[in-house]
Amino acid sequence: MSLPLTTLLVLLAWSGISAGSSPAQGPEPCDSIWVGYQCQPQISHSWGQYSPYFRVPSEISAKIPHNCEITSAQILSRHGARDPTASKTKVYNATISQIRANATAFVGPSAFLVNYSYTLGADQLTTFGQDQMVKSGIKFYTRYASLARTVEPFVRSSSEDRVVESATNWTEGFHAAKLADKSAADGDRYPYPIVLQYEGDGFNNTLNHALCTEFENGTYSDIGDDAQAAWAKIFIPPIQARLNADLPGANLSIDQTIYMMDLCPFNTVANENGDISPFCALFTDLEWDQYSYYETLGKYYGYSYGNPLGPTQGVGFVNELIARLTNTPVQDHTSTNHTLDDSPATFPLGRKLYADFSHDNDMTAIFSALGFYNETMPLPNSTVVEPEAASGYSASWTVPFAARAYVEKMQCKGQPEELVRVIVNDRVQPLTQCGGDELGRCSLSDFVSSLGFAKTGGDWAQCFV
Ligand SMILES: *[C@@H]1O[C@H](CO)[C@@H](O)[C@H](O)[C@H]1NC(C)=O
Ligand SMILES: *[C@@H]1O[C@H](CO)[C@@H](O)[C@H](O)[C@H]1NC(C)=O
Ligand SMILES: *[C@@H]1O[C@H](CO)[C@@H](O)[C@H](O)[C@H]1NC(C)=O
Ligand SMILES: *[C@@H]1O[C@H](CO)[C@@H](O)[C@H](O)[C@H]1NC(C)=O
Ligand SMILES: *[C@@H]1O[C@H](CO)[C@@H](O)[C@H](O)[C@H]1NC(C)=O
Ligand SMILES: *[C@@H]1O[C@H](CO)[C@@H](O)[C@H](O)[C@H]1NC(C)=O
Ligand SMILES: *[C@@H]1O[C@H](CO)[C@@H](O)[C@H](O)[C@H]1NC(C)=O
Ligand SMILES: *[C@@H]1O[C@H](CO)[C@@H](O)[C@H](O)[C@H]1NC(C)=O
Ligand SMILES: *[C@@H]1O[C@H](CO)[C@@H](O)[C@H](O)[C@H]1NC(C)=O
Ligand SMILES: *[C@@H]1O[C@H](CO)[C@@H](O)[C@H](O)[C@H]1NC(C)=O
Repeated sequence: MSLPLTTLLVLLAWSGISAGSSPAQGPEPCDSIWVGYQCQPQISHSWGQYSPYFRVPSEISAKIPHNCEITSAQILSRHGARDPTASKTKVYNATISQIRANATAFVGPSAFLVNYSYTLGADQLTTFGQDQMVKSGIKFYTRYASLARTVEPFVRSSSEDRVVESATNWTEGFHAAKLADKSAADGDRYPYPIVLQYEGDGFNNTLNHALCTEFENGTYSDIGDDAQAAWAKIFIPPIQARLNADLPGANLSIDQTIYMMDLCPFNTVANENGDISPFCALFTDLEWDQYSYYETLGKYYGYSYGNPLGPTQGVGFVNELIARLTNTPVQDHTSTNHTLDDSPATFPLGRKLYADFSHDNDMTAIFSALGFYNETMPLPNSTVVEPEAASGYSASWTVPFAARAYVEKMQCKGQPEELVRVIVNDRVQPLTQCGGDELGRCSLSDFVSSLGFAKTGGDWAQCFV
């Protein structure tokens, strides 16, 4: 089998294998296929959902257990790193304009702002983000090569550009790894088809919430913002005072101080190599820890157990997952699109590899509908709780840029029934909800039995009171 030279070199470079005669290379990259983004980890792993994917510490080894054979695997992935959303890019730009117009000095680490001009775009994947997705495709292929050698993944994506592009880039990585694998079977239909679920008002979509009125626009729509505002009032004032002292005349507000923190991850992922931005040095490690918790509160009270209708937003996807795991038609009355899910062309059962592409908020709701992190205490709005103390829950551990959850089924010697395991950003979920064993596994029937919340539709009826 022949492989384009460029693809091979790129694969070798990515995989960290030295290519012998390759031209002189720069310093060792600190972002890799296998362990993700490791540049200044003491700060970059504390950027909440704006952290680039990194390997999360796992109490259980994520290796495929001895005497077991993977029988199916699915990835649920967030899109890769992007520019700020359109509304955020506006307020970031205005904040920089305000500083440039009114600051009479630029003291200490803020000196770089003298010459900084705001150039970030809006909403789209960055080059760094595309690269993350290619790497994710290579990693998935490699982990599940025993299946991936002979079958194609079935791919779905929510319809926003950055998500579809992420799906495409992931398939590029998957396919390149397959081409580079001498043991792989020939004959993939490439590019792989991608089934879209439309985003927008009135569309049923299991990879993007928008249908549940009370959640979107009603009683439960501001809880996440309120929790964040309460915590910001506590941790931001000292940071705000320091920035305003270093930038006399700038008069940054609490929100604008948070924007200045946001500009560290966003400028970092806007660089194609992910070089750490000078914005990052404006803040201490402790302040990043507080910021990460601020982002965690937004997800927890916006889309997880902190919001009475958060987990319900993930129910449709969980019912689709049950259908795939058990080879039975989808049974759901929440956000699934029956036109899509009742057709084998757009919702085939019995495939060995599935890949779905979505957003951070939706993945947060899906993890909650699955019952993950359900032992997490109600998170306080007044003091940081580290992820280790929150049953492994934090925004950066669960939904960083290019986040990926694997749901794998395996057949093991001496076990009559298939076992299920879930791995979120390389951290094995303990699956305590279904009596997970020392390797984090439950029998398929115990796993499915533990999903009663989703099977009964969650609290969907409360969406329309
Ligand atoms: C500069 O400060 C003045 C006075 O507070 C304010 O009116 C103006 O909007 C500020 N300029 C910018 C660009 O924010
Ligand atoms: C800003 O740019 C000017 C002109 O290029 C340069 O002389 C100056 O050193 C720069 N200042 C900082 C703090 O980088
Ligand atoms: C920032 O805002 C100014 C107007 O205040 C506009 O001219 C410029 O294009 C904006 N830059 C970006 C990158 O959005
Ligand atoms: C990612 O996908 C986009 C859209 O298909 C493409 O233009 C881009 O070259 C891809 N990036 C990489 C790194 O393959
Ligand atoms: C369901 O999906 C089909 C096919 O994409 C689409 O035409 C239809 O508008 C969708 N319906 C809803 C309610 O989302
Ligand atoms: C929420 O409000 C927006 C703006 O009024 C509207 O377009 C949207 O349809 C509403 N969503 C739901 C689910 O009611
Ligand atoms: C955090 O704030 C949210 C929003 O106001 C509130 O619902 C929640 O009860 C608060 N959490 C705690 C532990 O007080
Ligand atoms: C500083 O900004 C606040 C709003 O955030 C405004 O009320 C106040 O007038 C500003 N102070 C100066 C000196 O511009
Ligand atoms: C969309 O979801 C609603 C339930 O929220 C359901 O009544 C409707 O039949 C669904 N439409 C399709 C095309 O599946
Ligand atoms: C979380 O745990 C509580 C208490 O055990 C239970 O009532 C609830 O259904 C669980 N939530 C999910 C989504 O499994």
